[in-house]
Amino acid sequence: MDNGWTFMSKDAVFDLFSRYVSPPKALFFRQVGIDFVMGKREGPYIWDVDGRKRLIDCHINGGVFNLGHRHPDIVRTLREALNTLDIGNHHLVSDLRARLGQRLAELTPGDLTYTVFGVGGGEAIDLAIKVARAYTQRTKIISVRGGYHGHTGLALAAGDEKYRRPFGPPPPGFLQVPFGDLDAMRRAVDEDTAAVILETVPATYGMPIPTRAYLQGVWNLCRERGALYIADEVQAGLGRTGRVWAVEHFDIVPDILVTGKGLSGGIYPITATILREPLMKVFEPDPFIHISTFGGAEVGIPVALKVLDITAHPDFLAHVQTLARFFQERMRPFAEKYAGLFVQLRQLGLMMGLELTSPQLGPVFTRVAYDMGLLMIYANNDPRVVQFLPPLIITEDVAEEIVQRVDRTLEFMYRMHP
Ligand SMILES: Cc1ncc(COP(=O)(O)O)c(C=O)c1O
Repeated sequence: MDNGWTFMSKDAVFDLFSRYVSPPKALFFRQVGIDFVMGKREGPYIWDVDGRKRLIDCHINGGVFNLGHRHPDIVRTLREALNTLDIGNHHLVSDLRARLGQRLAELTPGDLTYTVFGVGGGEAIDLAIKVARAYTQRTKIISVRGGYHGHTGLALAAGDEKYRRPFGPPPPGFLQVPFGDLDAMRRAVDEDTAAVILETVPATYGMPIPTRAYLQGVWNLCRERGALYIADEVQAGLGRTGRVWAVEHFDIVPDILVTGKGLSGGIYPITATILREPLMKVFEPDPFIHISTFGGAEVGIPVALKVLDITAHPDFLAHVQTLARFFQERMRPFAEKYAGLFVQLRQLGLMMGLELTSPQLGPVFTRVAYDMGLLMIYANNDPRVVQFLPPLIITEDVAEEIVQRVDRTLEFMYRMHP
């Protein structure tokens, strides 16, 4: 690499990683035959450290690489920012944070106005839950089973039990209901409910696309009963669905909108918890009641602003919509061609999941697709579904290449078990 960084051999990396980072993780990847160590990366591609294998990245860390790897404008922006900026001081008033806050307010619907910056998505969700509780003076937080909001304290408590089990009892007040079941939500939301938190499209649950009636129903219920609606758009936001925010498809103005992952441009981590105007009341008695030392680090803000400029451009969103139609049309025949194996493409824009017929098949697909040159990982909370998140910047040629590789993957699986 041009800064003089040289990668070790793959075996050396695996050994060192086993010794000093995570022996079980290294073992897992060896056992499943995915002994990949990321080396060169560019656009939609990542190469194995030994340079022998190239994958099209259709996992993209759930949206981190929405703009592909090392997007030239993003890299240039960070380089320029480094000439004058550093982390800044999170206690002080900041020019750059003010500008990014303004841009986010301009791009979000309704009176979503104020941004609290963070570093990771879990932290941003924690803050959303804290604000909901402080604002409503209520305790209960309702989420959906299969939903995923991160592995920090309150975000973890809002997620599935399997991620919490080894770590002792959860904090009180969290309740999960089945996804898509408005009656269950109606029974759950009561006068002690501070908030309902929903991913607009639940990614770790395999991209089930909510109906308009469901999301509108939950939103209305919240407003009727004085609970807040938190939209987790850590994955679904930032152009992924063909709109800047996925809630726009459903005409919902959440009380709190959380974004992360892609806001980093894949280069500098930053997250945002965007609050409706009245919620600032929570910080009036003590503006230092919530702190994040690295949240909204100034040097990363030009990157986030560049990401938003690229993402909100009408031509960019139109490109996402064109690609979405392309995948829909090209993959529709797979349901018939691979009947008994492939069910359907779940899809809202380029937020996509390949629904297979059984939970054993997701991991098999991931493994076979790897051999076919695709990084695509099954959904942890519903392994029937393989998450399919290509970078938003791909050309139609790359999209065609992806379709052909998916086709070959399914064909291989079909021949093994017709
Ligand atoms: C929908 C959603 N919310 C929150 C998070 C947590 O983000 P982070 O891993 O940056 O803490 C994730 C991470 O995958 C996510 O997918």
